[in-house]
Amino acid sequence: MRLTDTSDLWWKTAVVYCADVETFHDTNGDGIGDIEGIGRRLDHLVELGVTCLWLMPFYPTPERDDGYDVVDFYGVDRRLGSLGDVVELVRTAKDRGLRVIADLVVNHTSNQHPWFLEAREDPKSPYHQYYVWREDKPPDTSEMVVFPGEQEAIWTKDRKAGKWYLHHFYRHQPDLNLSNPAVRTEIAKIAGFWLELGFDGFRVDGVPQLLSLGPSNEPKNDDVANPHDVLRDLRSFIGRRRGDAVLLGEVNMPYDQQRTLFGESGAAELDLIFDFVAMQYLYLSLARGDAGALATALKNRPAIRREAQWAVFVRNHDELTLDQLTEAERGEVFAAFGPDPEHQVYGRGLRRRLPPMLGGDQRWLRMVYSLVFSLPGTPTLFYGEEIGMGENLAAPGRHAVRTPMQWSPDPGAGFSTAHPKTFPAPLVEGRFGPEHINVEACRTDPESLFNFLRHLIDVYRRHPELGWGQLEILDQPLPCVLAHRAATGEASIVAVHNFSSDAVSTAVKLPGVQPGHELHDLIAARWRDEPGGRQSSDRPLVVDDEGRVEVQLAARGFRWFGAPQPPGTRGSQAEPPALG
Ligand code: GLC
Ligand code: CA
Repeated sequence: MRLTDTSDLWWKTAVVYCADVETFHDTNGDGIGDIEGIGRRLDHLVELGVTCLWLMPFYPTPERDDGYDVVDFYGVDRRLGSLGDVVELVRTAKDRGLRVIADLVVNHTSNQHPWFLEAREDPKSPYHQYYVWREDKPPDTSEMVVFPGEQEAIWTKDRKAGKWYLHHFYRHQPDLNLSNPAVRTEIAKIAGFWLELGFDGFRVDGVPQLLSLGPSNEPKNDDVANPHDVLRDLRSFIGRRRGDAVLLGEVNMPYDQQRTLFGESGAAELDLIFDFVAMQYLYLSLARGDAGALATALKNRPAIRREAQWAVFVRNHDELTLDQLTEAERGEVFAAFGPDPEHQVYGRGLRRRLPPMLGGDQRWLRMVYSLVFSLPGTPTLFYGEEIGMGENLAAPGRHAVRTPMQWSPDPGAGFSTAHPKTFPAPLVEGRFGPEHINVEACRTDPESLFNFLRHLIDVYRRHPELGWGQLEILDQPLPCVLAHRAATGEASIVAVHNFSSDAVSTAVKLPGVQPGHELHDLIAARWRDEPGGRQSSDRPLVVDDEGRVEVQLAARGFRWFGAPQPPGTRGSQAEPPALG
C-alpha cells in the first residue's frame, strides 16, 4: 500500500486531536481561550503529527453544558472570537496540512435559542414544530436520563407552552424534532454553512439521541420511515457539497447497533464511529492485567464498509464511561483506577485522566498508547493527552478533565496571562500540574510521552495498513498478552502487548507465514525497553517450523513488527478502492 492510495479516504489513516477553544490558549489576556489561540498553537499539533483538528463547540451559548447548548448554529461565541477568526484558523490549518472538523450539535438547542423562545410563546409559530411536544403527562422516564443525579426525566413541562417537551440530555436542552422536514433542511444548511467556510466535516454529537435509537425511542422521526434515512440524507448532502468531508459519530452503543450506523456501501451513514466498546474493555483488561476482555471485544468488532473507520480513543472530554460493562466489571475498573466516590460520576464513569489512573507509570502509559495506535482505526487524542496531563477533581463533574492546557510552568500555565481565578476551569495541581507537566518541558525531554507519541505517530503514518488492515487476534499462550495483526493484501503489521507487570516471553502463531520469514521491529528499542534497563536487540525474529515467533516483552512492554502478508487477504475489503 502506498501513501497515494490513501490520500482521499484520508480519515482511514488520520490522527484526530480534540481541542476545546475555551481552555486551549488565551491570546487577549481575558482568561478565556480563544480561536486565535488555537491558530497560534497549530504548529504544536503539526510537530506531534496530528492530521485533523476537532474543535469542540465554539457557537454562542449560555454555557450550561460547556457550549453543547447552542443559541446560534451560524455564529461564534463572542468570548472566543469572530467568524473571521474561525476562517483565519481554518485557513492557517490548511496551510499546515491539517484538516479541521467541528462539533455538529443538532440533537437539541439551548432553551435560550430564539427558536425555542418563540416556540414556547406561540404554538402557531413554525418554530413550535421545531421541537417535540406532548400534551399528556409522560410516564416515568427516570431510567432513560443521560445524566442521572442531574436530571430526573426526559420530558419537562414548559410553563408557557403548557405542554411537555422532549430533552434527551439536560432540561435546558430541548430536542429538535427530526420529523419536521424544515428541521432536517435546517440541519443540512448548518452543515453546508461550515463546509463552505472550509471545514472538513463534523463530529456528530449524540447520534443515538438524535435519531431516538436505543432505549428511549421517543417520537422524533415519525414521518421518516427509517431514522437511518436522516443520516443517509445528511451524508449524501455533505458529500455533494464537499466530496471528502466526514461524519464522525458519537455512538456509545454495542457493536451490532454501531454497525448499522455506518450504513451500507452506496448508502453511507457515518464514516467514523468512536469505538466505545473496545475503549471500555481496554480499561477492564488494564485493571485485570489480562488481555482477554479486550481480545474478546475486538473479535466481536463487526466488519464495516470499506470506506468507514473506527475512531480509537482512551479518553474524551466527557466522563470515561463504563456503561457497557456489567456492574461487577465496572466495579473492577473503579477499584483499580477510581476507587474514591469523587473519582466517579453518574454511577457509570470516571472523571480522571489516564496518567493519574496509572499512577504516572510512564511505561504503562506508553503501552496503552501503543495499543491505541496499533489497533486498526484512526487514533483520536483529547488535548493534553500528548503531554500526560492529569485532572482536577475540585472542578465539578466532567469539568475535572477540561482544565486549561499546560504549555509552560508559568503561573497561568502559558495558557493565559490573566489570573488563574478567571480561567474557565481550575488548573491541575500537584504532580500532574503545569510546574511538572507542560509542553515546554516535554519538547526538550527526549524521554517524554510527547516524544514517544511523535515516534508512534510517525510509524503509524508510514504504515497505512494500520488504518486499512483487517484485524486478527493471534493465538499465543499467555492471558496477559494481546497479539494482533493488521493486514492488507500487501503488507501486515503484528503488534504484541504485555498487560502484566512482569517481563514475559510468548510464542505467537502467525497463520499463513512461511517458516524462515523475518519480523522486523518498527518501534525503536529505546521506547520499548525498560527505562534505564538493558537494551533489547534489533535482530529480526525468525518464524519457526510451526509458524510461530518467540516474542520477548518487558513488563508492560510492547513491540510492533513489519511482517510478510498472509495469503488470502489480497482483493479483500482491506484494499483501498481503485484510485484510492
Ligand atoms: C455529548 C457531548 C457531551 C454533551 C452532550 C449533550 O454527549 O459529548 O459533552 O454534554 O452531548 O450535548
Ligand atoms: Ca481570550
